Amino acid sequence: MFITFEGGEGSGKTSLIKEVESFFKKQNKKVFLTREPGGSFVAEQIRNIILDNKNEMSPKTEALLFAASRVEHLETVILKKLAEGYLVLCDRFIDSSLAYQGYARGLGFEEVLKINHFASKNMPDYTIYIDSDPQEGLKRALKREKANRLDKESLLFHEKVKAGYQILIKKYPQRYLVVNGQGTMEELIADTLMKLKEIFL
Ligand code: TYD
Repeated sequence: MFITFEGGEGSGKTSLIKEVESFFKKQNKKVFLTREPGGSFVAEQIRNIILDNKNEMSPKTEALLFAASRVEHLETVILKKLAEGYLVLCDRFIDSSLAYQGYARGLGFEEVLKINHFASKNMPDYTIYIDSDPQEGLKRALKREKANRLDKESLLFHEKVKAGYQILIKKYPQRYLVVNGQGTMEELIADTLMKLKEIFL
């Protein structure tokens, strides 16, 4: 089972994933937690290039670098862990490329799918999407010590990211689990665990 987590900046994704990890561990599942971009030696180096505030780059370069880091991570880490029987939880995956590069940067879903499918056809079994307010999230993200190149994009950009995800939810209804990130962290955790229990218990 391969589960990914998606959402805008400052949506509480990182804290939520840890809660989901302990939920599955309590069910005695072998759980492996990882993140994108990054998650392997080469992919982490690509991550540094993509997120570095000094690195202006074309949207196409950005999309190709995300896809390159994804294939490294997938081939050297995720597929191995899945074959060993782990439940893999991944902080962001292909849907981030579709929402950020495909929709918000304007490259188009089809183009971004094409380069990602050249790298690999593996898709997640479930994708947990945190539905949160881009303005609130962005405020939180910018307060962090190290805001990266994408955090620094405009509110309009982050609203487009959200609009991109809304399209993806409609495109992949079986895979998407939408959880409410508009309230407190406790409410977000409760909503997510309730939805996971309906599927997994
Ligand atoms: P990170 O600090 O890991 O962000 P977050 O905590 O919000 O997940 O930075 C990753 C950034 O890269 C984030 O702004 C989303 C963006 N991103 C893409 O634009 N495309 C992608 O394919 C991926 C994986 C991430």
